Amino acid sequence: MARIIGCVTTSHVPAIGNAIAKGRQEEPYWKEWFDGFTPVHRWLASARPDVAVVVYNDHGLNFFLDQLPTFAIGAAAEYQTGDEGWNLPAVRPFPGDPALSWHVINSVVAAGFDVTMCQEMAVDHAVCNPMQLLWPGGGPWPVRIVPVEINTVQFPLPSAARCYEFGQAIGRAVASYPSGERVVVIGTGGLSHQLDGERAGFINQEFDRKFMASMVTDPSWATRYSTVELVEQTGSQGIELILWLTARAVLGAGSGGDVGVREVAATYHVPISNTAAGMMLLEPAG
Ligand code: DHB
Ligand code: FE
Repeated sequence: MARIIGCVTTSHVPAIGNAIAKGRQEEPYWKEWFDGFTPVHRWLASARPDVAVVVYNDHGLNFFLDQLPTFAIGAAAEYQTGDEGWNLPAVRPFPGDPALSWHVINSVVAAGFDVTMCQEMAVDHAVCNPMQLLWPGGGPWPVRIVPVEINTVQFPLPSAARCYEFGQAIGRAVASYPSGERVVVIGTGGLSHQLDGERAGFINQEFDRKFMASMVTDPSWATRYSTVELVEQTGSQGIELILWLTARAVLGAGSGGDVGVREVAATYHVPISNTAAGMMLLEPAG
């Protein structure tokens, strides 16, 4: 059966894509953030995943406000990037894994999560940033991807509790896939930030740190909060932390409850652009 070998969660910010495109990783503003990924590169070199399940939110590239699924899963053979309006150069296309995508889609629908299935799907900075951060330097992507998209953009949003259960369903789906694939799950977005409105620039370091600790020791902690409470605590884009929560639930999904995880690496850095930027690498405790 396929095996989930780890979970990497990271903030996404278009400015990260821009810094990569312009080779700014060593500049003072960026160095600490990019250096934080060195342990992740070491871990990936030895863990050698075949596939990445990428839990992210689309920001208007593939879905717009007129047609916006709550949960969508890609089942394409390839995913292209596109012009999001941030003046970012195109990133080379990501290879898909339609067979695993359809297995996950079939499994989660059977478990009560009626996802939108996408045989074509363009992916934005929320997928490109983590892929470039995890596997820098160009060349063929070493993993195929299964994109899992969750609406964090237009109300009503799925609750943290619902996302946690969705992640568990994805985890069980992957664990029942009859192949020897090694799967890493990636969650992208967060941590606290708000880009516009009266609270533009809002950051809540105390809540972010509690949330990051909960990812290791108390994974369902954030599910006690309603969506509005999470927006109050983290900002209207900080709600993207439900994507981290979903990815964490994928990693922990075992037949008898959460399997427990170990933190391999973590960083927290304020700010990048308007965002409290964090990264965590977790692996199963056993
Ligand atoms: C920023 C953060 C985001 O999550 C995003 O999607 C776009 C921009 C920012 O901080 O600039
Ligand atoms: Fe975002």
